[in-house]
Amino acid sequence: MNAESTLIEMREVGRDEVALIFSFLTIASRMEEQGEPLQKALVDEQLSPYWKGWGRPGDKAIVASDTASGLPVCCAWVRDLPPQHALKTSAQGRVLELAVGTVAQYRGKGIGTAVMRRLLDACQAVCDGISLSVRTTNPALRLYARFGFVKVDGSEHTNRVGSQSITMLLNFRDSSQSPNRSEVEAAKTEFKQAHAENIPASPCAEAARES
Ligand SMILES: CC(C)(COP(=O)(O)OP(=O)(O)OC[C@H]1O[C@@H](n2cnc3c(N)ncnc32)[C@H](O)[C@@H]1OP(=O)(O)O)[C@@H](O)C(=O)NCCC(=O)NCCS
Repeated sequence: MNAESTLIEMREVGRDEVALIFSFLTIASRMEEQGEPLQKALVDEQLSPYWKGWGRPGDKAIVASDTASGLPVCCAWVRDLPPQHALKTSAQGRVLELAVGTVAQYRGKGIGTAVMRRLLDACQAVCDGISLSVRTTNPALRLYARFGFVKVDGSEHTNRVGSQSITMLLNFRDSSQSPNRSEVEAAKTEFKQAHAENIPASPCAEAARES
């Protein structure tokens, strides 16, 4: 597969699509890469807040599917995490947690950027910011930085697999922390030119932490 041959379609994820969210959580949390049985996500207390009870008011998600095969290839979602998991940033207002995953063979083609852009655009109207947890060695740090996510001071923590993660925050109400629009838009334009994707109107959903 090459970038030129990948056409995608994006749509909002429905409230009854918990299986789709669960399947992408196993990708977002990099379970297969680490040889973890995917069934662990059914019982892991740190992962369950990202998928259990999907379809609550406020849950929002965008999925991209390969037009040719119909296979869902990327999903990004946000939701309110329970207080014990949520970022302790009451001063930031309502902060939703983001999760995102792209099927391995489809990574690096701009699909994650397009899906996140659509989700984050929709979220600006319903919350004050978006948080996420990411391993300090994850190349996705660059992707998040391009969207304007910044590391939360003192947020280093040992994650569920024993390595280091940080929390990042995108504050919609802080203009000094606005996304790097030029880079994100450039990536989006590049993606559109390469993929001629079909983007239906309106978005979105809610969701993700450790991954
Ligand atoms: C992170 C991820 C969702 C990005 O989706 P994508 O469709 O590859 O994204 P795009 O092609 O639009 O953007 C490419 C960016 O994604 C990141 N990326 C690319 N390959 C990656 C990989 N194997 N793992 C993690 N991040 C990756 C990089 O930041 C890259 O930007 P760069 O050009 O600066 O290197 C996807 O790579 C993935 O599912 N990775 C594994 C799961 C994961 O790490 N999820 C995030 C947990 S916090």
